[in-house]
Amino acid sequence: MFGAHLTFNSKPLSPTPPCTPMPDSPLRYNTPPAWTEAVLSDFDSFLLDHATAEKKASGMAISMLSHYPDRIELVSAMADLAIEELTHYREVLKWIHQRGLVTGPDQKDPYVVAFRTSIRQGRDVYLLDRLLTASIIEARGAERFALVAAALDAGPLKKFYQSIARSEERHFELFLALAQKYIAPDVIERRWDELLDIEAALVADLPVRAALH
Ligand SMILES: [Fe+2]
Ligand SMILES: [Fe+2]
Repeated sequence: MFGAHLTFNSKPLSPTPPCTPMPDSPLRYNTPPAWTEAVLSDFDSFLLDHATAEKKASGMAISMLSHYPDRIELVSAMADLAIEELTHYREVLKWIHQRGLVTGPDQKDPYVVAFRTSIRQGRDVYLLDRLLTASIIEARGAERFALVAAALDAGPLKKFYQSIARSEERHFELFLALAQKYIAPDVIERRWDELLDIEAALVADLPVRAALH
């Protein structure tokens, strides 16, 4: 049902080294090693932030299906996704509780908040922008979880992050495939190109911290 999602040209924003472990990544800014180092040096904070991100991803999927109740493929894909993201949340929670940590109130994610200001109003462009920003956010998650997995020592936590990275890579493809279901390819391609540049500039500007973004 979904496919042909990687026909878009990707061009690097800046000559960053090709160090992403996600081979088909569309992203135009590679997360620097300093980010992975920050995460490994305060893994507790990273886990707490990761849990929040999974919970919000689940909520976002529910918000999508509520907004477009008549779009059959979207509703059914988002129902599955909401469950999968909440399952991720529950899995991260286990790691959190194992470490004797306690979840706190949600913090705003500066990256998601800033990126979502690119979502334009208007029936068709709103759907397009929501799907494409969601796809790019998933691609960034896949890139960063894979970096974490690569940096961890062999063991269950490494395996967990490898599996999370694969899931988020599938979600990147899912949102792009949904866009292709509802919107003309040339319209997608133009906006995809713009949003990838916006996202790359945004991530390059983020402070490095022990958080997903
Ligand atoms: Fe997830
Ligand atoms: Fe996801």
